[in-house]
Amino acid sequence: MSKPHLTVVDHPLVQHKLTIMREEKTSTAGFRRLLREISQLLAYEVSKDLPLISKTIRTPMCEMEAKVLEGKKLALISILRAGNGLLDGVLDLIPAARVGFVGLYRDEETLKPVQYYCKLPANMEERVTIAVDPMLATGNSSAAAIDLIKAAGATDIRFLCLLAAPEGVARMKDLHPDVPVITASLDERLNDRGYILPGLGDAGDRMFGTK
Ligand code: URA
Repeated sequence: MSKPHLTVVDHPLVQHKLTIMREEKTSTAGFRRLLREISQLLAYEVSKDLPLISKTIRTPMCEMEAKVLEGKKLALISILRAGNGLLDGVLDLIPAARVGFVGLYRDEETLKPVQYYCKLPANMEERVTIAVDPMLATGNSSAAAIDLIKAAGATDIRFLCLLAAPEGVARMKDLHPDVPVITASLDERLNDRGYILPGLGDAGDRMFGTK
């Protein structure tokens, strides 16, 4: 069976933490802590079909063939700068993953992505890749980041975000139908500045205390 293009993780813990993150009054420290916690829960969902390999281990009782993740085969790509907030939580759960960064900023006039950095692990064609960015808004930056990841050879890619706008999901489906999107919420829409409504504001600013 083919994977759904969009998965909304409606686990009560995820929804509870997300509501606190959305609240205007939540502090920068609280926002960062919750993002780390929620990304661990989202990592559980995004990793549920990762390939396992067998390894011989010895329990106190006997030898056995046990399953382990093919950890070094996994690439986590953070879309800067807000992606780093999700990255930390996913790395807590999958510490052996290789990590790359794509730096894109959004031109506030055109809402189009401008690339300023790209450093990806070697042998991307061999890896399952999880691209992380908290906000799938217009989808322009996310789709551009996936273009770069595909250009490096990756073929098995998932996109993990905290909030998605219908416009961004549609754009990703249009440009990258092979890339499943996993999110904690499908929000209502974008405003005329490309911000998600009801959203949580600027994820990078809220995470780093900038404005
Ligand atoms: N980026 C953000 O940080 N927030 C939005 O609402 C949209 C894009």
